[in-house]
Amino acid sequence: MRSPHGNAPRGYSEAGLMENSFAGGGPVETQARIVSMNIEQGGVHTTLLYAPEIALRAVPMQFVQVKVAPLNDPFLRRPFGLSRISPEEGIIGITWATVGRGTSLMGLWREGDTVSVLGPLGNGLRTDRVLRTNPGPHGRRPVWLVAGGTGLAPLYPLALSLGPHCRDITVLYGARTAEALMDTSLFETVGCKVTVATEDGSAGVKGRVTGPLGHLLASFNGPLSSNPPLAVACGPTPMLRAVKAMLRDTPVELYVSLEERMACGTGLCKGCAVKAAPPRSGYFHVCSDGPVFPAGEVLLGGEGQGA
Ligand SMILES: Cc1cc2nc3c(=O)[nH]c(=O)nc-3n(C[C@H](O)[C@H](O)[C@H](O)COP(=O)(O)OP(=O)(O)OC[C@H]3O[C@@H](n4cnc5c(N)ncnc54)[C@H](O)[C@@H]3O)c2cc1C
Ligand code: FES
Repeated sequence: MRSPHGNAPRGYSEAGLMENSFAGGGPVETQARIVSMNIEQGGVHTTLLYAPEIALRAVPMQFVQVKVAPLNDPFLRRPFGLSRISPEEGIIGITWATVGRGTSLMGLWREGDTVSVLGPLGNGLRTDRVLRTNPGPHGRRPVWLVAGGTGLAPLYPLALSLGPHCRDITVLYGARTAEALMDTSLFETVGCKVTVATEDGSAGVKGRVTGPLGHLLASFNGPLSSNPPLAVACGPTPMLRAVKAMLRDTPVELYVSLEERMACGTGLCKGCAVKAAPPRSGYFHVCSDGPVFPAGEVLLGGEGQGA
């Protein structure tokens, strides 16, 4: 399978805001000690892991592959975005929902256990580069973080690192019901404006997250083109597709973080291919070329078919 990047070296990132894991010294496999396991609002677990080598190397939006059980059953590791990165404490966090066998086994983890973690993997968004495209004493360029479901979790390290430098970060977060909403208070603590939407209207705005996104877009009518926002979206593919369609003909610069089923997580098995958007041909691999892509560079699940 041909990569649209051709023979570009590892660590190469066409869009200057991203950095591949190999540029930071490469991923490491480590036995990480579970520091804490908490069940949080929305029924998700947050697991903090002592993994100093990974915490030192990771940038926001990268992910790790975890071995959910000590023996090789299940054989494949499971990928999770990083919901905490603390190089000072040597700690990383993953925030995860129980969906199948692997995550059910993760529910058996206990504080003090050790688990094998491989990472950091994939590219991430380098905060310093985001800020370089975000001139002015307090980052005049607005940043929009758009999330659905557990897609909120990996956006927190990004918000945390941008928070002191940007005065205008908006988080738009959607879930099906109030019960399924994850806690957004950490984002508020770092100065983000948060709007939530639920499909049944049981909390926040009724409907999908694209509703508040439309309002935000309309409110930027005038200054939008002189000061285009940077948007990062993370969540289910249909949400990403809708956000992309909505921002397509606007000056907003959109990055999407993709989730595909993964085996190796390092670019070897070719199992996580997504089609490159025209005029390119070929495939990207979400684990090694992503998970973050400029939205215009990839076709999102069925997008472009029949065109
Ligand atoms: C880069 C990346 C980052 C991720 N970050 C997070 C995160 O921060 N929090 C979180 O809760 N989940 C995250 N996921 C999804 C997570 O990896 C899956 O939920 C997990 O692997 C499911 O394992 P399982 O054995 O429990 O489920 P399985 O028994 O393997 O599958 C159960 C169900 O989940 C679906 N599923 C399995 N793997 C994926 C996947 N990779 N993407 C989408 N659907 C999947 C299956 O289609 C099936 O419907 C991420 C995935 C990727 C690729
Ligand atoms: S999971 Fe193997 S190439 Fe991406």
